[in-house]
Amino acid sequence: SVYENAQIASLKVADRIANLIKRKQDREEMAVLGLATGATPVQVYEELVRRHKEDGLSFQNVITFNLDEYYPMNPESRQSYVTFMNENLFDHIDIKKENIHIPDGTLEKEEIADFCIDYENQIEALGGLDLQILGIGRTGHIGFNEPGSAPNSGTRLVTLDDLTRRDASRDFGGKENVPTKAITMGIGTIFKAKEIILMAWNRKKASIIKKAVEGEISGEVPATYLQLSDNTEFVLDHDAAAEL
Ligand code: GLP
Repeated sequence: SVYENAQIASLKVADRIANLIKRKQDREEMAVLGLATGATPVQVYEELVRRHKEDGLSFQNVITFNLDEYYPMNPESRQSYVTFMNENLFDHIDIKKENIHIPDGTLEKEEIADFCIDYENQIEALGGLDLQILGIGRTGHIGFNEPGSAPNSGTRLVTLDDLTRRDASRDFGGKENVPTKAITMGIGTIFKAKEIILMAWNRKKASIIKKAVEGEISGEVPATYLQLSDNTEFVLDHDAAAEL
């Protein structure tokens, strides 16, 4: 779907998340959400916080799994995705701390493989992700699945693309400070979600959105794998959809 602007599109996405949470509440079930970081979902989180404060939307029945985290990364650091999620969402809602999951940037190298298997198992034990929201990087990455990622990949340690590190350099005060690695859910992990929403705003995403939506399906642009999914919706603003 293409909307007038990011604000209107974000309200639609927040609405779908809120409806999922309420539907699950009626059935006394947990809503299992896959969450993303970056500038793209910020207004979605803002709207969810507003609904919590003004409409009493509760997150007591919500379990979240974030897509990714830099590695290594101290969760207290200003650039961590833990800090991002706390500041933009978790600190302002009534979610239970034990229901929040974000890949751990503090692990020892040799602990990472087990951590990743456990991350997958926890999602599976809950019956899978009900909804995964995604942004898209200019390399075509989803989560931190950079070009070359396999369609059946699981949660794992990856090396970041040079362009991705350049795009992150402003947050870190220089590219040399951006971690070279990250722990990310895989394409396979994302694919198992019951619903997937990929969001993109602004003109600078238009060319990668054209490739993702209309380009040949290939590991060179990992987001093209979403063309194979029946449960994926691209939610765009006019600018991001400009080349379609
Ligand atoms: C990072 C995140 C991705 C996100 C991408 C785009 O690489 N790991 O999940 O989609 O940035 O970021 P932005 O939304 O700021 O354009």
